[in-house]
Amino acid sequence: MAKQIGHLISLLALAFSCFAFAFESKPLQDFCVADPNSSVFVNGMACKNPKQIQANDFYFSGLHLRGNTSNPFGLMVQPVTVAQLPGLNTLGISMVRIDYAPWGVNPPHTHPRATEIITVLEGTLEVGFVTSYPEYHLITKVLYKGDVFVFPVGLVHFQQNVGNETAVVIGALSCQNPGAITFGNAVFGSDPRISSEILAKAFQVDKKVVDQLKAKF
Ligand SMILES: *[C@@H]1O[C@H](CO)[C@@H](O)[C@H](O)[C@H]1NC(C)=O
Ligand SMILES: *[C@@H]1O[C@H](CO)[C@@H](O)[C@H](O)[C@H]1NC(C)=O
Ligand SMILES: *[C@@H]1O[C@H](CO)[C@@H](O)[C@H](O)[C@H]1NC(C)=O
Repeated sequence: MAKQIGHLISLLALAFSCFAFAFESKPLQDFCVADPNSSVFVNGMACKNPKQIQANDFYFSGLHLRGNTSNPFGLMVQPVTVAQLPGLNTLGISMVRIDYAPWGVNPPHTHPRATEIITVLEGTLEVGFVTSYPEYHLITKVLYKGDVFVFPVGLVHFQQNVGNETAVVIGALSCQNPGAITFGNAVFGSDPRISSEILAKAFQVDKKVVDQLKAKF
């Protein structure tokens, strides 16, 4: 009996360690349309008065438009997060359209708060992500029109258009405010800059190389 109780207690401990959340994981009302003017700071954005919401609070238009990819990456990302669509606040979901010029690259980045699932509408893409366990394993695949691929939450991932034509992707993310950290910008383009001594040591290169990279961001 004592042994069984012991088992029960360890099972309960396991259950709580897996399922105890430090924050509320689901909305506690129909919706919480973001009020960008509120000076209240909460985990997310404060809600507009529900009696003043309108259809347009739940609406965004423009994902049919091609992005302008005339930039060094050959890339344009059109997010539809709580910043563009206030009705997404607290709902744990958002969207994105990504346009790639031929050979355009969405450089290695991570969404700290979201898993991302994409589908290819046009073109051919090489995509990939890197695992933390097993350590630094690259998972990569070439995607064609209609293919779907998922980037697990928090992992570093990238895409490249490996065709001679433009490519278009629609994606969904499991957070209304997924965040994006692009490694080049975070490491070489932070404000203020990380010292070149640190980066030269970290990347085992000459400070001149670090300064060259810093100049790009
Ligand atoms: C925020 O405040 C501005 C200026 O007062 C106003 O024009 C705008 O409609 C407000 N936005 C919302 C969502 O209430
Ligand atoms: C696309 O972006 C480039 C670089 O910012 C700009 O020069 C060009 O006018 C833009 N093209 C269109 C169609 O907006
Ligand atoms: C891209 O165009 C080049 C030159 O026209 C051709 O050799 C190559 O096969 C094309 N690649 C793809 C993926 O279509």
